[in-house]
Amino acid sequence: MRTSPLMLVLPALATAQQQFPFADQINPFVDQVKGWFGQVSASVSSSAPAIPTSISIPDPVASGAAKYADLKVERLTLANHKDVLKPGAATASPGLEEWMIYVTGGNKTCYGRCGRAETAWNESLALMAASRSPPSLAMLDCETDGVLCHAWAVSPPQLIHMMLPQPLLDQSTPATTMRSINLNMTTVTATEIAAVHLQEKYMDVAPYEGFWHPFDGPLAQYGLNIPAGYFIWGFSQIPSWVFMIGVSFLSRNIMSRRMGGQAPAAPAAA
Ligand SMILES: *[C@@H]1O[C@H](CO)[C@@H](O)[C@H](O)[C@H]1NC(C)=O
Ligand SMILES: *[C@@H]1O[C@H](CO)[C@@H](O)[C@H](O)[C@H]1NC(C)=O
Ligand SMILES: *[C@@H]1O[C@H](CO)[C@@H](O)[C@H](O)[C@H]1NC(C)=O
Repeated sequence: MRTSPLMLVLPALATAQQQFPFADQINPFVDQVKGWFGQVSASVSSSAPAIPTSISIPDPVASGAAKYADLKVERLTLANHKDVLKPGAATASPGLEEWMIYVTGGNKTCYGRCGRAETAWNESLALMAASRSPPSLAMLDCETDGVLCHAWAVSPPQLIHMMLPQPLLDQSTPATTMRSINLNMTTVTATEIAAVHLQEKYMDVAPYEGFWHPFDGPLAQYGLNIPAGYFIWGFSQIPSWVFMIGVSFLSRNIMSRRMGGQAPAAPAAA
């Protein structure tokens, strides 16, 4: 059975509302959320069983809900990412620390098409703020921090979900679980992003355990992921016309060498 992510978010949001300690402060927002979901439920039940995929949700940012979401979004950079993503940096509570990192880009790195995903992310913050245990949040802009994006092998628009473990008593650090969730830049919605946390939708995605894992991959363990990031980023900065000239130069060289190799053979045969 196929269920809309929106329907899955509803119950979580309902319980979250009851348990949220600052309910009074966010009351206008809660009412607004109830309002939207009322509309959505109505439109869903009237058109059941086919759930429309293009339910129009009022823009929470435009309607002023965003100011109730005072979740802090850290901006990850090459310089600060190690300190920001340190277990225990965001919360003092023991256990796993959940992080959601939104990877965005601009004209060069996302072809200027990350706008919808960015709006969805911004709106999802308001939804996740109502969670009992909101995740720690960060964003990474590949336009300004391309090296880090290449070092982690991520490309916008994408969501990185991480479970940072606390160091053990012997100071060794257990493995970090990382999942990369691709966002469809034409269809992504705020509820879809919020459901990754609220409905633990991240569990649908297999953890990444490859070469480029930012903490436990072989590159990271030998401290080579940032140099590799610089290297690939450097290549991406070379304009394509330089490649074209290089390729034509090489092929001409090879051709002329071949011709040069054949040329002496002709007089000899004659
Ligand atoms: C991105 O491209 C659009 C259209 O080409 C342009 O209007 C905008 O100023 C560009 N943004 C940046 C940050 O360069
Ligand atoms: C998302 O929020 C950030 C931070 O508040 C803001 O700078 C950005 O313009 C917003 N983007 C969109 C598309 O609303
Ligand atoms: C994004 O969604 C659209 C519409 O459902 C689909 O046509 C497109 O293939 C999707 N893109 C990706 C990368 O999955």
